[in-house]
Amino acid sequence: MLITFEGIDGAGKSTQIKKLVAWLASRDVEAVTLREPGGTAVAEKIRSILLESREDISPIGELLLFSASRAELVQEVIMPALSSGKTVILDRFYDSTSAYQGYGRGIDLEVLRSIIAISTCAITPDITFYLDIKPEEALSRKFSAKSLPLAFDHEELDRMERSGLEFYRHVRQGYLDIISREGDRFVSLDALEDAECIHRKIVETLNSRIQA
Ligand code: TYD
Repeated sequence: MLITFEGIDGAGKSTQIKKLVAWLASRDVEAVTLREPGGTAVAEKIRSILLESREDISPIGELLLFSASRAELVQEVIMPALSSGKTVILDRFYDSTSAYQGYGRGIDLEVLRSIIAISTCAITPDITFYLDIKPEEALSRKFSAKSLPLAFDHEELDRMERSGLEFYRHVRQGYLDIISREGDRFVSLDALEDAECIHRKIVETLNSRIQA
């Protein structure tokens, strides 16, 4: 089973993934937890180019680097894990590419679709948990209201996070559009709710899907 988590930076995916892994472990379900970009030696090198570079990267260059990292991860780790019956939990997958490179950077969605199909070997998640939050709210989890106007220049931020508020508004809108087109696979959750309450909803959804 392939479970993915999506949402803009600061939505709280990591917290929910940790809680889910602990819950699965308590039921003796072995889960492989991975994040994108990264997860193999080569994919981790690509991750550092994408996130740590201080140089600009063109939108197409960025798309191809995310896709190259994904191709490595899918072939080296995800496909073998799924074939051996393991549950794979993935912090971001190709919906991030549609939202960030498609809606955020403005790359044609048809172009994205074919590159996504190649880099994923056409694997689709069984279920995707989307944590919804407005970019302003996600930022204010990280910065005080006073430092918010300067937040996008902050040296703590990685290359993607320095893309600005307007970019993140497009990315969020992208996620909402994707969900409205492909609703069945997604479970949309309010990221501002209490973390324990979100976790309970995730577990309830998984229990009901497994029973069905
Ligand atoms: P990461 O530190 O993993 O952030 P987060 O905790 O928010 O997931 O950084 C991954 C960044 O890369 C994040 O800003 C989203 C972006 N990204 C894309 O733009 N396209 C993609 O296809 C993927 C997988 C990630």
